[in-house]
Amino acid sequence: MKKSKKIISVMLGAATAVCLVPGGALSEEALLKGDMNGDNVLTQEDVSLFNDRLMNRAAFTDKQYALADINGDGKVNVYDLMRLKKNTYGRRDTLPEGTWLGYSSAGTKYYTFSGGKCTTTEEKTGKTASFDCSVKDGKLSLGTNTSDISWNTSENFVLKRSDGSTEKFCYYGKETINWSELYTGDWLAVNGSSKRSFNIRGVSGTVNGKHFTYKKNGSSLEFTLDDGSKLSATVTRIDSMHLSMKWSNGTAERFTLRNVTVKDGITYINGILIANKSYSLPSTYNPGAILPEAMSAFNTLKADGARNGLSYWITSGYRSYSYQNQLYQAYAARDGYAKADTYSARPGYSEHQTGLAMDINVAGDNFGLTPESKWLAANCWRYGFIIRYPQGKQDITGYKYEPWHVRYLGKELAKEVYDSGLTLEEFLCIDSKYKN
Ligand code: DAL
Ligand code: ZN
Repeated sequence: MKKSKKIISVMLGAATAVCLVPGGALSEEALLKGDMNGDNVLTQEDVSLFNDRLMNRAAFTDKQYALADINGDGKVNVYDLMRLKKNTYGRRDTLPEGTWLGYSSAGTKYYTFSGGKCTTTEEKTGKTASFDCSVKDGKLSLGTNTSDISWNTSENFVLKRSDGSTEKFCYYGKETINWSELYTGDWLAVNGSSKRSFNIRGVSGTVNGKHFTYKKNGSSLEFTLDDGSKLSATVTRIDSMHLSMKWSNGTAERFTLRNVTVKDGITYINGILIANKSYSLPSTYNPGAILPEAMSAFNTLKADGARNGLSYWITSGYRSYSYQNQLYQAYAARDGYAKADTYSARPGYSEHQTGLAMDINVAGDNFGLTPESKWLAANCWRYGFIIRYPQGKQDITGYKYEPWHVRYLGKELAKEVYDSGLTLEEFLCIDSKYKN
């Protein structure tokens, strides 16, 4: 052999990582051990190319050599040839059983094979499908699709479809994966002042950068880190964005879902548009009016209020960047910037610019004493609103109590936030602070 042993262990490290990091990037090379001609399927040709190289009638290329330690013992020798023959001919007609993770350019899919049937679930969407399946002469049929099946090991095979695309399969276990019980997403786990981030994709993830897989085991979740250490937890869902996690070592964490996306300069957390002192809006963002859904929710609230003898109107709704600038500058001229910052947003930071916030009736402290204010605070969640700047939360929201300022979140979310008793900042574990 011309290549050193060192090279192969490095290459093999990369090759196994494909299986160890479900959901991670698929390395196109290093897909199928023994695939000497690089066509992603094991055939007689691979066996004879391998044989020629082993007999020194030809030399391995780097790519071929990286796939040559077929039995994974760190050496390339005749035992690998024997294994390659077995993988090429011996396992041709093995029908997979149990649950497998399938990785392809289309994303990760879960496959559960059982007694000639196969159920698939897309990791991203949860979309499922069921097929009849069978295997014959090295071809696996799934419904009407037939692919070449090539086994690396009993826990690892590659399917090659007729269009040339490939899918790599890693064995997961006997249990089926219930998509609705997965915890896909970015989570902030908090226990007092300790914080760590979990980024979960399907059945695996990272915690503070360390990779793990997890499985459901009865009523608990079992986490396995790559170093083999295990920890289990009892999970309780609090609402759509929170979990309570009780670890077997006695510690507990509250998990808050935080999928942060920024689109056209606007920040969305778990799909919720955020405007506060930490998250600004571009000056060009201009919906022009209160958004129709929020408007119609207000109209329903107003009608129900009227039935209770209460009268509601919008005193300030959508405000453009430039109008907010005028307001803020006028307040600052009157009270100074520091004081203005406690009750008026700087331009680009006001929720009024989103078209989802409104001031009801009178934007003044006396509003808090009216029956309208009481009913609004107790009932606005039913219409999809929250009181955005509650009493005593100035350090968190960045603004003093504003009983008149409501934010539209939609009914389901407004109920969750109301039930939590938290401000939107606390609910999402974000802050509201100007950077300067
Ligand atoms: N009064 C609120 C904080 C605003 O100016 O948007
Ligand atoms: Zn307001």
